[in-house]
Amino acid sequence: MTCCGHCRDAGDFFNERTARRELKRYLRRGPDKPTRLLIEQIRKPGAAGKTLLDIGGGIGAIQFELFEDDLSRSVNVDASTAYQSVSKEEAAQRDLREKTEYHFGDFTDLAASLPESGIVTLDKVICCYPDARKLLEFSLQKSRQLYGLVYPRVNWYTKIGFKLVNLWFRIRRSEFRTYLHSPAMVDGLIRKSGFQKRSYQTTVLWQVVVYERG
Ligand SMILES: C[S@@+](CC[C@H](N)C(=O)[O-])C[C@H]1O[C@@H](n2cnc3c(N)ncnc32)[C@H](O)[C@@H]1O
Repeated sequence: MTCCGHCRDAGDFFNERTARRELKRYLRRGPDKPTRLLIEQIRKPGAAGKTLLDIGGGIGAIQFELFEDDLSRSVNVDASTAYQSVSKEEAAQRDLREKTEYHFGDFTDLAASLPESGIVTLDKVICCYPDARKLLEFSLQKSRQLYGLVYPRVNWYTKIGFKLVNLWFRIRRSEFRTYLHSPAMVDGLIRKSGFQKRSYQTTVLWQVVVYERG
């Protein structure tokens, strides 16, 4: 990521211990609920023969699941080296290394050099990034068909929860922060880019939205 305190301290948060714990959990129980809902909705039009750009892809659960459906290729962009190396190991384990491409860094810095894809996903990513507008605008340009997003609901308990989480980061002297971005801003920007909402689901914390280029 570009060198700011937020991004540097994000690397401390998304570290190897967390990545290994998440991979272990994924291998035991499959994707967590919001990711599972997102994948189910992407599966409806189908992933076979398509390409995936997973921004902030973490350990790579979305790509591993969609390869079961004959996804043709996946590009994983993440600002955490720890998550990427754990994901690469798992891709090699599954004999998928040749079909997976990994780019380390802040997506907004790398966007110009990345290919367009049939499917673009941002699963719990915009809540880790201060400039959601930029992240959305750059990523929308990369989607030819489907655009899938998981981001926090905005209500009284997420407002309190995010304040407490950020207080915890402040106490630990970390500059990393989490963000509740306005759903109206997010939805408006995506529609303005020529997408229509295909599905909308919620869990206690998250909204899971899939858009299709109209
Ligand atoms: C909460 S994790 C989610 C990981 C995965 N998508 C999941 O749902 O399990 C957020 C991830 O987004 C990455 N991230 C945040 N902002 C990013 C950016 N601007 N460019 C690339 N990756 C980013 C972080 O490094 C982290 O791996």
